Amino acid sequence: MTIPRAITIDGPAGSGKSTLGAILATHLGFVYFDTGVMYRALTLAVIQHRVDPSDSVAVAALANQCHIGVHTPTHDDGRQYTVTLDGIDVTWDIRQQPVERLVSQVAAHPAVRQIMRAQQRAIGLAGDVVMVGRDIGSIVLPEAPLKIYLDVSIAERTRRRIIELTDRGEQIDDIALAESIRLRDERDRHVMHAAPDAVHINGDTQSPAQTVAEVLALVANIPVLHTH
Ligand code: DC
Repeated sequence: MTIPRAITIDGPAGSGKSTLGAILATHLGFVYFDTGVMYRALTLAVIQHRVDPSDSVAVAALANQCHIGVHTPTHDDGRQYTVTLDGIDVTWDIRQQPVERLVSQVAAHPAVRQIMRAQQRAIGLAGDVVMVGRDIGSIVLPEAPLKIYLDVSIAERTRRRIIELTDRGEQIDDIALAESIRLRDERDRHVMHAAPDAVHINGDTQSPAQTVAEVLALVANIPVLHTH
């Protein structure tokens, strides 16, 4: 079995996977690939085509039809990448409330996951990639030589989010915020799988910077990740 030059990072929403993934990718000269954007872009297509999000056959048909692209950033507006849906830039649209509300439901259909996972696996096997998601190390790319499972408690994720929102001058209801994080976990629970050989990192007991340092130390011990 060839070992792909890939790192997988799984864990719940808001655990810092994207920040860690982007830093690692830059450090190694790899592509950073956030698999959640594929489910988000498909959800936008569901809304635009007025497909019933509970109709797994119709949603899977749309997943086969539509073309989702993830590219290096085309604008300097804070984006980490550009996402296209049938050639149209949808990078910011997939972060809006209508998508946010439906994405867990769209991502839950097994037929949809099968289509998305096959595309993600092809990207992972091509190598030189840091892949972030929920099921990447366990199902999409189990042969990756380094698999991280990043977990952070709801309390700590709420605390970090409050700091972020306060910095932006926004008003926060911290109980409602904690509840929305809990609900999101609940909705995503069935798609979340840690690989049996994943390195578990608990973000409650260390800062994001310490997590980056810990993972870089792991990377340094895996020659296949940095031999070109
Ligand atoms: O990580 P995110 O918030 O962008 O993910 C959006 C949705 O997609 C979320 O409901 C979980 C789902 N998802 C998934 O089912 N499998 C993945 N590999 C990545 C995301």
